[in-house]
Amino acid sequence: MLVLGIETSCDETGVAVYDAAQGIRAHRLYSQIALHAQYGGVVPELASRDHIRKLLPLVEETLREAGITGGDLDAVAYTAGPGLIGAVLVGGTVATGLAMAWGVPAIPVHHMEAHLLAPMLEENPPEFPFVALLVSGGHTLLVDVAAPGNYTVIGESLDDAAGEAFDKTAKLLGLPYPGGPALAALAEHSKVDRFDFPRPMLKKPGLDMSFSGLKTAVMLKVRELEAADELNESARADLANSFQCAVVETLVAKSLRALDQTGYVSLVVAGGVGANKKLRQDLQQILSQTQRQVFYPRPEYCTDNGAMVAFAGAQRMASGQPAAQGVVAKARWALDELSAM
Ligand code: KG4
Ligand code: ZN
Repeated sequence: MLVLGIETSCDETGVAVYDAAQGIRAHRLYSQIALHAQYGGVVPELASRDHIRKLLPLVEETLREAGITGGDLDAVAYTAGPGLIGAVLVGGTVATGLAMAWGVPAIPVHHMEAHLLAPMLEENPPEFPFVALLVSGGHTLLVDVAAPGNYTVIGESLDDAAGEAFDKTAKLLGLPYPGGPALAALAEHSKVDRFDFPRPMLKKPGLDMSFSGLKTAVMLKVRELEAADELNESARADLANSFQCAVVETLVAKSLRALDQTGYVSLVVAGGVGANKKLRQDLQQILSQTQRQVFYPRPEYCTDNGAMVAFAGAQRMASGQPAAQGVVAKARWALDELSAM
């Protein structure tokens, strides 16, 4: 089975070919970072227009790299949401049109399901059931993954998503968009958790999280340092590091609590913030001390990409999910609404 995957939910145009026998045959990514950088964040209308410009050439390149033509495919999968509605519509419309032309089904894919299944593309995939920590620019979710398609959200951020907190805090520190990787890089120049920012909701029972207060704490500290004329390079690195320590410690503690609560022994981490080195190291270290294991996609499959969409579409297709009638596009779409596979 050969499935083309198309991802356009935000600012990355991703295309891939998944082969059920061989794995990912080809994948291409075009990032719109340079386009949005001057605005300090993603401008939805510009994102939609750029997906229109880049998507078809990227499909052609990917098929060529895989050594196939459209006629060889068994399905075209696309991210149908959640995401920026205009951007999602571009991917959905192109995917549905191509599927019609090639006489194959178009499979709508839930973006977060694609993220949480991405570690299955690696050599040592997790076994069900597991807890998934999904941390991206738009979501921070702890999910009880009982079986493929059987998802229960057991914890989430009540305000900013973890990636959003990284991006907003990076902006406060004068770092370029997208802030997450830039802030993580700046934090590497500091060795101390100098400011000991609050670990939001850590002392409260339960699995929900909150990150907006943390961003405010950084803002107040920035102002204080500025007023004292002490906001130098080393202080900025310390601020970045202390912020990262607070977020990572919170995510690690809540993930451990989710494992305790479910009794599962496997944790899957996916989504853009899953590329964060400190989060990966800390989870690896803490879980290896117990009989538990953490699974990640490779960093390029953590952030948005076509490979995870092709793979999730192939699983949905193999489970007998009927093809979509018309284009499916949803700005909001709860993970718990999905049907079991
Ligand atoms: O999953 P993703 O590519 O797109 C969404 O679906 O949102 O996640 C993007 C988010 C951004 O907020 C970005 O700043 C963050 O992931 N991110 C990181 C790192 N790489 C990406 N945050 C912290 N450390 C990183 N290394
Ligand atoms: Zn994403």
